[in-house]
Order: sequence, then structure tokens, then C-alpha cells
Amino acid sequence: MPDQQQAANAADGFVPQWIIEKKRDGEALSEREIREWIARYASGRIPDYQMSALAMAIFFRGMSPEETLWLTQAMMLSGDTLDWSDLGRPTADKHSTGGIGDKLSIPLAPLVAACGVAVPMISGRGLGITGGTLDKLESIPGYDARLSTERFRDVLSNVGCSIIGQTDNLAPADRSLYALRDVTGTVPSIPLITSSILSKKLAEGARTLVFDVKCGSGAFMKTPEQAQALAKSLLAVARGAGRNAEALVTSMDSPLGMAVGNALEIRESAELLRPDAPPPGSAADPDGALAGERELILALGAAMLRLSDAAKDEAYARAALEDALSSGAALQKFAEMVAAHGGDANVAESPEKVLESAPVIVDFPAPRDGFLTKADAARIGRAALLLGAGRKLASDAIDHAVGLDRIRAVGAKVQAGDPLLRIHARTNDAADAVRDELAAAFEIGDSPVAAPESVIWRG
Ligand code: URA
Repeated sequence: MPDQQQAANAADGFVPQWIIEKKRDGEALSEREIREWIARYASGRIPDYQMSALAMAIFFRGMSPEETLWLTQAMMLSGDTLDWSDLGRPTADKHSTGGIGDKLSIPLAPLVAACGVAVPMISGRGLGITGGTLDKLESIPGYDARLSTERFRDVLSNVGCSIIGQTDNLAPADRSLYALRDVTGTVPSIPLITSSILSKKLAEGARTLVFDVKCGSGAFMKTPEQAQALAKSLLAVARGAGRNAEALVTSMDSPLGMAVGNALEIRESAELLRPDAPPPGSAADPDGALAGERELILALGAAMLRLSDAAKDEAYARAALEDALSSGAALQKFAEMVAAHGGDANVAESPEKVLESAPVIVDFPAPRDGFLTKADAARIGRAALLLGAGRKLASDAIDHAVGLDRIRAVGAKVQAGDPLLRIHARTNDAADAVRDELAAAFEIGDSPVAAPESVIWRG
């Protein structure tokens, strides 16, 4: 009933169109105006058409860091907030803006937990071509990502890490606003993205937040400038809300690691935690892609330990993480977390025995000799989605077994006919259907090229 809503809003002196006009004309909104707006939107007293108009005004006019912090806090307070102060351990989480083959949360949470910092991680599902941590974890038979808050607390207390999905009452204002932004062209706005991500992360309650802002063809942010601007905004709001925070901007022009697809990424996650990591240049890691992925996990993990005061400096933090890897403690913690979620813990030691594999596994060969100069993340992500590893429609089911692995990295020297990757498909036709997309993903040149830097900026 729009008219009744308008009348009720006007009766207590709150006139939504005046707020929209103020932002439309480039003025800053006050904390009270933002708080009132979100409280009314969350309780259905502001209709979607006015929320859309304000989102578009914010899209064009932006928000100051203070306004963004107020918006984030108002959205956080639209639902439950978790508090871990009685856990007796520091708490930390990592947020990635998402990319192709980005499975880092899965090994990172048990690794950091093995070093004494609890990781309460609330993750999402795949969005477009970027995979989701929950979809990946659900390829482990039995893994239940929908724990109650009480059970989440138990797992965190007993194991030290738990990865679950967003509960219904975590930042519900963001859920409604995000759906509206998706259909009104207002997703790519830094204050709106910041408040959306952080309303959920602040509600989740971890005292330390480390951001991995991805940048490149397979990411939301395409340029280093855009990614840095988002990283700075996330840092300003997280710190403004009293949390310890650091951010890395990392490359997403090529996929992360060697596998893209749900079960394939779980398998790689377990490999990343193994004490006997294959050296770069070996048959299992020919281009050092796994070593690069492990380095990123160490960089993010070290920041989580330092900021939580679980390590006095970077060297101590790295030594603790390396110890947890080489002793097998991190791999054991992964098994414990999976078991606590009802999953088959053998996935840690023997992923090939536990995870479903695709019926068709075929090589995708290099068309010529030379040096790999491009392995385009967006096209590789699209190929994985077409195989069934992602969703074309939000209602689609995921095929956990399919995807791509043994992906060669930029800089690799290849000969015609060498596999550039393996396709894991349901049928031969499905494998053939992605060959054009894959052919366009790779470029091979005559001269050697250096592997690109993975960390572009730190703050
Ligand atoms: N992820 C979110 O949670 N929100 C956004 O707005 C963008 C990415």
C-alpha cells in the first residue's frame, strides 16, 4: 500500500523523497537519515521504488566514508549479530570479492585455526562465473553448510573453524537491497558494495577482517584502480567499525591454481594443506601455480594471525603457518571441520576416494609450440559454468563433479599437442561444447613471458 506507507512516513516527519532528492543533488545524508531509512526499508515502510531511486542516486553521487559506515551499520543492525567474546580465542575471517578457481577460504580457515585463531566464516554460493565456497564444500558427501547458530558456536568452540551459509536473519536489509540492485543497474557502486559485504561480515562478529580484493578479467573489479578504491573503502569502514583490517588486491586475469570446478577445487584445497607439497617445476606443479596459491594463503593467513595478536610479526606468523602445514596439523583441522559438519573426513587424506568424478575426462591440447601468454580467467570460468560447475539461472542445480584441472599457467613453455588443461564433463558432447570458449581463452606467443605478480597492492 504505497499511499498508506507514504502517509505513515510523512506523519512522523520522515519524507523519503526528500532524502532521495538530497542525495540526488549531491548532499551528504546524516547518520539519523540513513539509520531511519534502512530501519523503514527493512520493515516494509519504504517501498522498493523509493529504495531503487535512492540506490541510483548513491550510484551517481557516491557516499563519504562516514555515510558508508552508517549505511553498513544500519544494514548490519537489520538482523542478528554474533558475539564471540566468550570463546577465549581471537577471531578472524577473510573475505574475497570472488574469482575463478578461488578456493582459498577452504584451506585458509583450518590453517589459521590450527594456529590458535578461531575462524567463524559465513560464505556464499557461486555468483555468475565466479564459484562459491559453499557449492564447493557441498561436493564433500554429507557436508552440511546450514548449521544453526548454536551448532556453529559448538563447532567453532570444539574445532576452531566452521564455514556455513548466510542465515536468514543475517543482515536481511542487504538481502532485499542486493536483489533490488541486481535488477536496477546499481550493483557496481563502491559504497553499496562496501555496505553489502561489510553488513554481513560485521554481523558475523570476527574481530579481524582480511580482504582479498580480486582484480582482472575474472573478477568484479576489472582494473587495479577500481580494486584499490574498493579495498580502501572496505578498510575505512571495517576500521571505522572498530575491527582490525588489512586488504590485498590480487590478480584475477588468470584462474587461481590449477583447478576450477567444485569437487576439483576441494581436491586441490586438500593438496594445498598436505605436508609434502610438490615443488614448483615438478610434474604435479609444473608452472608453480600451486606454490603461488600457497603463497597467497600464507600472506592472508599471516595478516589474520598478526592482526589478531597471535603472532608478533610477519616472520612469526609465517613460521607458525608453515609449521601447521608441515606437521599435518592444518590438514587434520580440515578433516575435523568436515567431520563436525557431517561430511566424510577422509576427503582430507584421500579426496580421490571420496569425491565424485566426472564420467568423461579429456585433454585440451595446445594448438602450437610456444610460451603461454594468456589463460583468460573469464573465459575459463565461462567454460566451467557451461560444463555445469556454475549456474546459468539462480534456480539451476550445480554438477559438483565437472570442471577443469591441470590448467597451465602464463609463462609455461608448451609444445603443440601438450594438454593446456583437462576437461571433466558429464558427456563427450558437453566436453566438445566448451572447446571454442577454451580456444579463445589461451594465447601462445614465440617469446618467453614472466609469470604475472599475484599481489598488486597491500593496505
Ligand atoms: N558481494 C556482496 O555481498 N555484495 C555486493 O554488493 C557485491 C558482492
